Amino acid sequence: MKLPNLSYMMSVGELRYIQSYFEKPEYRNPDSEVGAFLTLSKRIRCMLRGTMLLSRSRADPFYYYVLARTRYYDQVFCDAVHDSLKTIVNVGCGSDTRAYRFARQLREEGVTVLECDQERAIRAKEQIARRKWSTDHVKYVCVDLNDNVWLDFIRSLGEHENQPILVIMEGVSPYVCDDSFRSFLRLLATSLRPGSAVAYDFKLRGMADAFGRSHEGQNLFRLPGNRQEIDDYHRELGFELRHMELSSELSRRVQPQLGTSFNEDCLVRLVTTGSVRP
Ligand SMILES: C[S@@+](CC[C@H](N)C(=O)[O-])C[C@H]1O[C@@H](n2cnc3c(N)ncnc32)[C@H](O)[C@@H]1O
Repeated sequence: MKLPNLSYMMSVGELRYIQSYFEKPEYRNPDSEVGAFLTLSKRIRCMLRGTMLLSRSRADPFYYYVLARTRYYDQVFCDAVHDSLKTIVNVGCGSDTRAYRFARQLREEGVTVLECDQERAIRAKEQIARRKWSTDHVKYVCVDLNDNVWLDFIRSLGEHENQPILVIMEGVSPYVCDDSFRSFLRLLATSLRPGSAVAYDFKLRGMADAFGRSHEGQNLFRLPGNRQEIDDYHRELGFELRHMELSSELSRRVQPQLGTSFNEDCLVRLVTTGSVRP
């Protein structure tokens, strides 16, 4: 059983593996567990890329952005545990390992993680993870954001609706249709307790509009990079915008010594207000 490379989930995992094992300390990725989701042949390929071909990987601004983004969402994840949230929902979790890397803290604090992804991915992840780690604090949920009917997801959320929760969606929205992702955000705003947190990132409109398209003309989720417009967009859905950072700003903040930055994305942290307009 292996994870499929849906929406580059394994490609991102491979970059984390390379950074975690072959980078110098300041550029080391904290995800030292991702190798569990890579086949032996993938790990051997990473070894080659991490030694003989490392300069080629480093030349792509996305390479260092993956490192910055991993550290950023690690912080979001740990903030939620620190703030005593008892449920963390990881939508489009792919090969992400936070549920396992932070298992000790999660168990100590009684936090449950809902790992959510498309059926083929989440079934494979569940099998691999259960063989490798103790996963009592983890639940696995099928969700396809393009379906617009999220029955399993809504049912699972219902079991945790009596307190605020955190939802993270790292590197997911660029692959989802505009109207579906907007509906999903609205679902979160209406079903989560006020004070719940949502953290996600998106591609800036006009930067890589064809990226992630499965067919010509598909209208994927994109937003402008203007703070007021982002604020208005999320307020109308029932969120307060707590933090917004362009990927270029994040890259410079986390890795000021690098001359390059990744310019295509924006990251937001939202809180549900409980005041959704009909
Ligand atoms: C680039 S990967 C990121 C994975 C993970 N969040 C991470 O950072 O390692 C994109 C993820 O989005 C998920 N995804 C893409 N389209 C989706 C959809 N329609 N419904 C649910 N998940 C989707 C993929 O299965 C994949 O896990």
